[in-house]
Amino acid sequence: MTPDDTERLHFRQMTIDDLDDLAELLGDPALMTFYPAPKTRDQARAWIEWNQRNYAEHGYGLWIIETLTGEFVGDCGLTWQQVNGRLELEVGYHVRATHQGRGLATEAALACRDFARDTLQVPQLVAILHPDNEASRRVAQKIGMRFLENDLGGTIPVRSVLGMHFPVSL
Ligand SMILES: CC(C)(COP(=O)(O)OP(=O)(O)OC[C@H]1O[C@@H](n2cnc3c(N)ncnc32)[C@H](O)[C@@H]1OP(=O)(O)O)[C@@H](O)C(=O)NCCC(=O)NCCS
Repeated sequence: MTPDDTERLHFRQMTIDDLDDLAELLGDPALMTFYPAPKTRDQARAWIEWNQRNYAEHGYGLWIIETLTGEFVGDCGLTWQQVNGRLELEVGYHVRATHQGRGLATEAALACRDFARDTLQVPQLVAILHPDNEASRRVAQKIGMRFLENDLGGTIPVRSVLGMHFPVSL
């Protein structure tokens, strides 16, 4: 299961055939500024394997996002993350440098937000980000999130947690 196509994007599960694209994306030092380090090819392979475990266990994870003609754009999707000792469903997104600034992360994140609310029917969705990551914060805000709390348990001293509650469906 994946979110439906948006106006410009198609979602699909990642496979080992995506290793070249993901290694380039996650190995880009500029794109990975707010991570501890860019990912090596082996770490990009581990990223794919982690998401394949997510698909098997939950039915969802981070998906490849590509244009409707099949051009690689990045990844976006839903994974369970620790926030101050509890599990929260997070929307995550990475868009290759050549495709940034066109609203594609927002378009993908909106589709994931709606999927989390309507298909998974979770009560809350978060985005966890480095406090200086303004582009990521903007995407989270544009899909309706607001600051919730700081997380102190991550790989950097403090991470900002933005999020939103969904109305309970009766
Ligand atoms: C975050 C990211 C996915 C955004 O991708 P994108 O496709 O360019 O995003 P969008 O075009 O949908 O929106 C980006 C918004 O951030 C804003 N923005 C971009 N860079 C910014 C900066 N340095 N400071 C402030 N705002 C910035 C844009 O102006 C836009 O907001 P606007 O529509 O109000 O003008 C992309 O920058 C990325 O891949 N970053 C690295 C990976 C990452 O940090 N992911 C999030 C992990 S928490």
